[in-house]
Amino acid sequence: MSFQNLNVVDHPVVQTKLTELRDYTADHRKFRALLDEIASLMVYEVTRDWPTTPRPVQTPLERTTGRVLARRVTLVPILRAGLGMAEGVLRMLPDARRGHLGVYRDEKTLEPVSYYQKLPPDIAATEVLLIDPMLATGGSAIAAVEFLKKAQVHSIRFVCLVAAPEGITAFHRHHPEIPIFCAAVDRQLNDKGYILPGLGDAGDRIFGT
Ligand code: PRP
Ligand code: URA
Repeated sequence: MSFQNLNVVDHPVVQTKLTELRDYTADHRKFRALLDEIASLMVYEVTRDWPTTPRPVQTPLERTTGRVLARRVTLVPILRAGLGMAEGVLRMLPDARRGHLGVYRDEKTLEPVSYYQKLPPDIAATEVLLIDPMLATGGSAIAAVEFLKKAQVHSIRFVCLVAAPEGITAFHRHHPEIPIFCAAVDRQLNDKGYILPGLGDAGDRIFGT
């Protein structure tokens, strides 16, 4: 299976942690710690081609010119499960602003239900990382991107952990220009919309619900 505009972070350390995370015996403490670590590691790949700008710096010995990120960054976790990746990303990008989009999917229809939106006022001028560990049917991520586009955001990257082929296809049918970064593309969805083999319900495993 090959997809356009999809980046799979197949780094051995990420894959090792993802395998530990999938294990059903990982309790919420271990699950949270692994998700946090993977989120940090993924930042390197997700931001690899971001533009930089020169900045003068005085070292203890002389003046030189370094490089820093050219644009400000906004991190937008999709509630709830996206919160499980937020601190890990912020550790690498501590100057990032943070917005929140609350979306859950109806258990019966699997349709996304938006219930909360709070974005920084200057978000349109920033690089936005939209994060959520799971891309299943794609409904939640599609709805979140639609909201970001209404807020005039032009530069969005969607960062998840596990993506289903169905979700990738649906997401790119709606938003073909938005790159997806994930750590794995799994086999398929089951009849309840869960990813197989997946890792179960990410929100429940993070929060112990
Ligand atoms: C999960 C997950 C995604 C969504 C993915 O959230 O965190 O947001 O499902 O499914 P989709 O691609 O089919 O929309 P959930 O609805 O369980 O809410 P929660 O994070 O509050 O638990
Ligand atoms: N949401 C989850 O948390 N897990 C899945 O497998 C699908 C949607």
